[in-house]
Order: sequence, then structure tokens, then C-alpha cells
Amino acid sequence: MPHIKDASLAGKGKLRIEWAERTMPVLRLIRERFEKEKPLKGIRISACLHVTTETANLMRTLKAGGADTVLCASNPLSTQDDVAASLVEDFGIDVYAIRGEDTSTYYDHIKSALAHKPHITMDDGADLVSSLLFVALDRLDDVNPSVSSWAKELTADQRKAIVDTVIGTTEETTTGVIRLRGMESDGVLRFPVIAVNDSQTKHLFDNRYGTGQSSWDGVLRATNILLAGSTVVVAGYGWCGRGVAMRAKGLGANVIVTEVDPLKALEAVMDGFQVMPMIEATPKADVFITVTGDIHVIDRQHFDTMKDGAMVCNSGHFNVELNLDALEEMTVSKREIRDYVMEHTLEDGRRIYILGEGRLINLAAAEGHPASVMDMSFANQALASELIVKNKGKMEIGVHRVPQEVDQEIALLKLTAMGVSIDELTEEQQKYLSSWEMGT
Ligand code: NAI
Repeated sequence: MPHIKDASLAGKGKLRIEWAERTMPVLRLIRERFEKEKPLKGIRISACLHVTTETANLMRTLKAGGADTVLCASNPLSTQDDVAASLVEDFGIDVYAIRGEDTSTYYDHIKSALAHKPHITMDDGADLVSSLLFVALDRLDDVNPSVSSWAKELTADQRKAIVDTVIGTTEETTTGVIRLRGMESDGVLRFPVIAVNDSQTKHLFDNRYGTGQSSWDGVLRATNILLAGSTVVVAGYGWCGRGVAMRAKGLGANVIVTEVDPLKALEAVMDGFQVMPMIEATPKADVFITVTGDIHVIDRQHFDTMKDGAMVCNSGHFNVELNLDALEEMTVSKREIRDYVMEHTLEDGRRIYILGEGRLINLAAAEGHPASVMDMSFANQALASELIVKNKGKMEIGVHRVPQEVDQEIALLKLTAMGVSIDELTEEQQKYLSSWEMGT
């Protein structure tokens, strides 16, 4: 039985899913092919992804391919309840996700996805696959009680069967890939993983342009501040950080970048940003946004020196980028002054505003990435699941990339859909580029 907020929201959700579909031409082409070829026939897929209109179109594609798919949320605050309702009511896909669910319900939903006995799991942050591995390894004290109490009722054989059924998994985001590589190096991974995030048609576009635009969409919807003339700190100058900094600059902000990697820091300097340690930046900034995938990037000592009225948010995968426990200890009173804006008043009277509970601001306070960019990310997801089925038993246990030619094909399809054509190498050029003898 699905677990959603309100089935009567389905009508609105369906229209929004259709709206997203308009700008997902690559995924649509894959869906049309899947409908004919049914490459996922008989395959059970459990997906743990942000429940958005774009994800709904991915779920439709997997179902068109013949998969028996269920979906749970990959973040308690990113679910769009109308989309969840429509997936259940209009598309016959079981969803376990309610916006704002508490941690126990979040893991109860992950448990339901595991109970589907998937052949393929799909993650955004590796919460589903890590829960699965904790069950498989009998490390039931390390997993949330909602999952462990269910797993304890299974026999050892049944627990083993759940992990043995999995033929492969896919991972959407940087943080999830890092966790999966950790599982691989600890020797606990049991099946092949396709790191969708590592495709160029994913991180070059989704992380940079998607996060770049939608993070500001979240900040602006939550606060309605004017960015022009304000000072913004962007923590992390990876794929997401580049986009977030670029768009802040475009809106007229003075942008300070903080980094720990000298190469990225140098790149930020040459891209025209101020670069300095976080502790130097904290008294200067009006808005802080973290996109590092790291822990406590904004810590007690930073909150200690922020200006009155500073706004702090995160667009990295987990809210641990902000030390919110430390801020709670420093807080004498707090109130929700607007939706997604929590005002913390400190002992000295300074007010600090935490946006979207420190969770992914683009999904908490806005709608996540635009469909047009998710088109490529989810084309990778759909093709990765097909690859896992085609190569069942042939792929080594470990973290793999989507093959280069698939990446290229997605880029070409996207360009074609955008009405952009490019040159092709002539025979002479191919020969020249592959020869060392034709240098002059
Ligand atoms: P990345 O690995 O390209 O960049 C992260 C950067 O943060 C690196 O340059 C690293 O040196 C830097 N960093 C690490 N610790 C730091 C610290 N203490 N201070 C300053 N910089 C630090 O990763 P990417 O792809 O940019 O992803 C970042 C995070 O955003 C991940 O958690 C990822 O899962 C998440 N993400 C969020 C999305 C969203 O919708 N909001 C979309 C895609 C990714």
C-alpha cells in the first residue's frame, strides 16, 4: 500500500508532470523505445529519489520499459505531495513519501522500498543501498529502528535473499558516489553500481547549471531578498559551487568563495571571485550557501562572528554542512518568521536566519532543478538500469561509469532536441587527429 499525503492532489500533480515532460525530450525518446522493446520486463526497481515532477517522468519511463517500480523519498523535505499522489492515482506507481516526514517515517518508507525486493535500486545519496547493506551485514544496530525492527522479523535466509536479489544499483549524486566508493573500499559492496553522477551529461549540467539556478530560486522564494549589492559566501567550488557562484555574480552579488582544494581555489580566483578562509568571510557576508558534501563547514565559531541578519543555507546533499546543533545551543529564542525561514536570536541579540532547515535549499524552498537539465540526468538513470539488466552477471562488483558512448549519445540527442547541430570530423581530420606523422 502506498503512503502519501493526499490522493486528491493527483490532478494538480498530473498537470505539473506533463509540464515537466515538455522539456524532457531525451527521456521521452527513451520512453518511446522502452515501450516497444520492454528492456526492463520482469525487473523490480526500488527508487529512492526526490519526489518531483522530473522523477515522475523517470518513473513513467521505467514502467514503460516493463519494470515494476516503487518510489520513496531521498530527503524528508523534497517531496512534492501532488506528484506523489499523481504517480499513485494516474500512473499506478506505489510511492512512499510525505513532505516534511520525520526521520522515523522517512526510514519506514525506505523499509517499504526494500520490502519490494528490488532487482535494481536507484539512490540519490545512498540511503537505500546503505540500509540494504546494513541489513545484509546483520548490522541492525547501525540502521534506523524503522528498518531494523522490520529486518529482525525476517529469517537470516530472507535477509540474505533481499541482497542476493539485487543485480545492480545506480547513484544520482556526488555524496552518494562518495559513500558507495567507501563501501567498495571497505569490501562490503555486493553488486555493481553505476555512478550516474560521474557522467559528463550529469554533473557538468545538473550540478552546475541546475544547482546554480535552483539554489537561488530556493533562497529567493524563501526570502525575497535583493541579491544585487549583497555579499554572498559560497562554500565549495566544485561542480555545484561553480554554478551557485556564477549565478550569484550574474544577479549582482559580491561573491566570496571558500575552498580547501588549492586547484579549485585558484580556479575561483581566476574566475574573478574573492577567495578566503570561512572565518575571514563570516563577518562580511549577508548570505551563506554551502555546497561541499562535507560536515560542519559552517561551525560554531562561524555563527559566532556572523553579522546580525545573516542568512544561512545549504545546497549540498546533507544538512550536516551546517552545525545546527551548535547554533541551537547558542540560540536563546527562535521563531519561523516566513515559510522556510527560521530566525535564531542569540544571547548578544544578533539574529541568524536558517533557510529550509539547512536541507537542500533548492528542493526545500523551490522545486529542485528545472526539467530540461534533469532530462539528461534521468536519461542516464534510465539507460543505466537497462545496462544493468543487459550485463547481468557480467559487470564486476564495484563503482562503474555510464559508458562514454552513452554519455555522448545523450549529449547529441539533447543538442538535436534544442535544434542545435554541430560539425562532424571529415575523413582528413580524423586521420590527422589520430596520426603522429602528419604534424606539419
Ligand atoms: P564536488 O566534489 O565537485 O565539489 C565539492 C567541493 O567542496 C570540492 O571542490 C571540495 O574541495 C570542496 N570542499 C570540501 N570540504 C570543504 C570545506 N570544508 N570548505 C570549503 N570547501 C570544501 O561536488 P559537487 O558535485 O559540487 O556536489 C557538492 C554537494 O552537492 C554534494 O553533497 C552533492 O551530493 C550535492 N548536490 C546537490 C544538488 C542539489 O540539487 N542541491 C545537485 C547535485 C549535487
